[in-house]
Amino acid sequence: MSFVKLGRIFAPSQWIKATLYNARRRLAALGVSWFGWLRQLSFRQRLLLTFLPIVVMGSVVQILIAGGQIQRVSMEFFQTQVEAEALKIAASLPEPMEHYLEGDGSDEIQSALSNLQYDAAWHYLLVDSNRRIIAYTLGDGYESQQVAEQTPDLTRAARGRTGVDIRPFVDGEDYLFVATPIFYEERAIGYFVLSRSLAPLYQEVHQQWLQLIMASLPVLLLIVAASLWIANTILRPIMALRNSALKMAQGELGVKMPIEREDELGDLSKSFNYMSEQLDKILTAQRSFVNNAAHELRNPLMTMRLRLDAMANQSLDEGQRAQYIADLRQEVSHMAELVTSLLTLARIDEGRHMAKGVVEETSTVLRDISRNWRIRAQQKGLSYETEIEDLLPAVAIADNDLRLVLNNLLGNAIKYTQRGTVGLKAQLNGDRVIIQVWDTGVGFEPLEAERLFERFYRDESVRHEYEGNGLGLAIVKAVLEQHGALIMAYSEGAQRGAWFTVQLPVA
Ligand SMILES: Nc1ncnc2c1ncn2[C@@H]1O[C@H](COP(=O)(O)OP(=O)(O)OP(=O)(O)O)[C@@H](O)[C@H]1O
Ligand SMILES: [Mg+2]
Repeated sequence: MSFVKLGRIFAPSQWIKATLYNARRRLAALGVSWFGWLRQLSFRQRLLLTFLPIVVMGSVVQILIAGGQIQRVSMEFFQTQVEAEALKIAASLPEPMEHYLEGDGSDEIQSALSNLQYDAAWHYLLVDSNRRIIAYTLGDGYESQQVAEQTPDLTRAARGRTGVDIRPFVDGEDYLFVATPIFYEERAIGYFVLSRSLAPLYQEVHQQWLQLIMASLPVLLLIVAASLWIANTILRPIMALRNSALKMAQGELGVKMPIEREDELGDLSKSFNYMSEQLDKILTAQRSFVNNAAHELRNPLMTMRLRLDAMANQSLDEGQRAQYIADLRQEVSHMAELVTSLLTLARIDEGRHMAKGVVEETSTVLRDISRNWRIRAQQKGLSYETEIEDLLPAVAIADNDLRLVLNNLLGNAIKYTQRGTVGLKAQLNGDRVIIQVWDTGVGFEPLEAERLFERFYRDESVRHEYEGNGLGLAIVKAVLEQHGALIMAYSEGAQRGAWFTVQLPVA
């Protein structure tokens, strides 16, 4: 295809674009923005605005076509009737005409036309070949005329055919004129014009037009009603959804939408319910988190207050005072730990925790972390075993985060083990480095495994004997999830040790 042809094809679309652009600019200059105006319309109005013009236009076109056809057929029928009548009468006229022209008088003609004289609907005119008037319906205004006018119907009849014309007649109404030549021995000796008022036909056609329009009105109303009904069926659930959303915004949690339909709106309601459920869960979790945090902070504060009250009492000896100061120090560091944990969690929740980084020398870093904990374990009289593969590949986790995870797991292992062994194992498995921290300590019921990672969760059996906030594992899990890593806890039961397995993706 040549460029010239392409240019031709695109030219009209360019023109339409330019016209639309100009129209918009002009409207904008008048302060009218059609999109702005459209945006203000309600859904109902939009639906009506879309459907009504199409339907009205369709109906009008249909009415015009049907009406036009009815009108044409009625007219044709009318014309055929008049023509047939004209031809019938004309057929009886040649002889009387010939006789009349020969000077025999008009009696024969009068009797041939006698039928017409009694029927007011029909008007006739009989002329000879020179259009000289021979007979006519009384009152048609031919009294003062000798020769009939050269009308289109007569012109055609002069050519030997039936001529038809419509024009206003004496009474001002439209008439249909049909002129036929009268032949005698193959000579046209005159013309017979039969006419009839079109007023009754017009009236009938008007009636038919009116009927057509009246018949389409109910359809139009039905379509308006249907559009409104559709708008309502769509709008009702949307309004319900809106009300539920408002309720939620006002703090009512767990709002549920009834699911009455299986269409897109039903899906929307389901999604809304899911959102509501999730929001409820998240908010409940958040509330209990704040509750727990306040609770955990209050305990050390109470202890500190008691100690301070006691210290204000002058009668304390040096030994007691030193003990209280040591207690205070411990409570303060406990609180500092708690606050640090809370801040870490808050940072992760807010998405401010940097979840990027790579540990290149995985084996070296693991051994380095291990060294500290070996000393701690030995101080507590536990044996410490490591089984770290050499030359582990780089893992996709920030160095700080890997240390945070292992410090928590090894710290727990040593804390919750009174005698026996604590161990660290690391090996490559496919595209993951598997790190296991295990111990022979207090263990837990296998069913509890998942709960250990909940915020502030502490097993009943350790709650009173061991210090802690129940946040370590929650932080570990949240940090690992940010790096796309997994953690699982396993124990065969109370006092049967514990295994914590971390799967780190290879960088
Ligand atoms: N190695 C383990 N052996 C047995 N139970 C454990 C072990 N590690 C954790 N748990 C259980 O999981 C709970 C949650 O552990 P987590 O580390 O989150 O909290 P914590 O150690 O109690 O307190 P902290 O916030 O100081 O770490 C512990 O209270 C304990 O009941
Ligand atoms: Mg812990």
